[in-house]
Amino acid sequence: MIKTAILGYGRSGSTLHADPLEEFGGDFTVTAVCDIDPEARQKAASRFHCAIYDDYRKMLKRENLDLVVIVTRSDQHCQMTCDCLRAGVNVLVTKPWALDVAEAEKMIAAARQSKKLLLPWLPARWGCDLLRLQQLIASGIIGKVFMVRRREFSFGIRCDWQTERKYGGGYLLNWGPHIIDQAIQLVGEKVETVYGQLRQIINPGDVEDVFHVVMTTASGVILTCEYSIAIDQLPNWVIQGDRGTIFVKEKSVEIHQVNIPDNISPAGYGNRPEIRVTKEELNGEHRVTMSSRYGDPFVIYPAIAQAVRGESAWPVSVADALELTRILDAARRSSEEVKIINV
Ligand SMILES: NC(=O)c1ccc[n+]([C@@H]2O[C@H](COP(=O)([O-])OP(=O)(O)OC[C@H]3O[C@@H](n4cnc5c(N)ncnc54)[C@H](O)[C@@H]3O)[C@@H](O)[C@H]2O)c1
Repeated sequence: MIKTAILGYGRSGSTLHADPLEEFGGDFTVTAVCDIDPEARQKAASRFHCAIYDDYRKMLKRENLDLVVIVTRSDQHCQMTCDCLRAGVNVLVTKPWALDVAEAEKMIAAARQSKKLLLPWLPARWGCDLLRLQQLIASGIIGKVFMVRRREFSFGIRCDWQTERKYGGGYLLNWGPHIIDQAIQLVGEKVETVYGQLRQIINPGDVEDVFHVVMTTASGVILTCEYSIAIDQLPNWVIQGDRGTIFVKEKSVEIHQVNIPDNISPAGYGNRPEIRVTKEELNGEHRVTMSSRYGDPFVIYPAIAQAVRGESAWPVSVADALELTRILDAARRSSEEVKIINV
C-alpha cells in the first residue's frame, strides 16, 4: 500500500486524482488530505475517512507518507514539491510542474538531494489521440511528416486564479503542457527554435488567454500549437506527410493517403495523384469528467504505483519536463521580445 496524501483538494485534486486513488484502493491508501478550504477538507474526510490538514508542513511532520500528490495552484508547486522531497516523500506534481526553468531546476536539485522520486504529471502523453497518431505515423501511412498543427479552442470565460500572473495563471502554462508537449512527442525530436505570440483577448486578469507557438525540430519539422478563442470548428490536429494528411477533430480521425505514381509525366501539370480517404473513431475511455484525449487517470495511476514501488520507470522523465519548461519559457520570451528564440 502506498500511503498517499493529496495536497490541494480542488477541482482537479478531488476528481482527476482522488477518483483513481479511490478506485485503486489495493495499491494506494489516502491517509491524508491537505487544503486551506474547510469545505474541501470536510468533503475529503467524509470520502476517505483520512486525516485532514490545513497546513501541509504539519502534515509532513505528523504523517509517514510514501507519496504526496500536489494539485494546488500553479505558483505553489515549486515550494511545496521541494518541501515534500526534503521531508523524504516522493512527489507527483500536476502540470505545469513549475512556472519557469529556474523553479524546475530547484525541484530537480531537491529530488537529487533527497533521493526521492519527482514525478511530473503530463497526462496528455496518454491521450487517445496522441497514442493512435504515434502508431499511424510509425506505420508510414502518410510518409515522412513535415508539419504538425495542434489546436484547442474555447469561448469560455474564466474568472478564477488562472487569469492572474501572480498565481501562475495564463493559458500557455495551463494548456502548453498538454498540446505543445503532445506535438513534440508525436515527432519525437528535439525542438530547436521557438516563435510565440501571446494575447489576452476576453478573460479578465493580466495573462494571456490565446497563444500561438511555432517551433522547428532538429530535422526541420514545423510544429504549430495554438490555444485560441474561437468556435470549435477547425481540426484539433492536422498532420502533413509527404504521402498524405491526417485530420483529427475531437475523436474523429480522417486519413487522406496520396498515391504518387512511379512515372510522373514531365508534361503533366501538377500530376494530380489518387487520394484514398479512410475514417476511424478514437476509443478513449470516459471514466471521469475529462475526455481521455488528455489522458485517462485510471490508466495513468497504475503506472504511478509501479514507479513508486520501483517496478518500472515513470514514463515522464524530469529531463523531458525540464525541456518542455524551457520551450514554454522561450515562447513567452519570444512574444515579449518579438523574435525567434533558439533553445
Ligand atoms: N488535466 C490536468 O492535468 C489538470 C486539469 C485541471 C487542473 N490541473 C492543474 O491542477 C492545479 C490545480 O488546479 P484546479 O483547477 O484544481 O484549482 P483549484 O483552485 O480548483 O484547486 C486548488 C486547491 O488548492 C487549495 N489550496 C490553495 N492553497 C493551498 C495551500 N497553501 N495548502 C493546501 N491547499 C491549498 C485550494 O483551496 C483549492 O482547493 C493547477 O496547477 C492546474 O494547472 C491539471
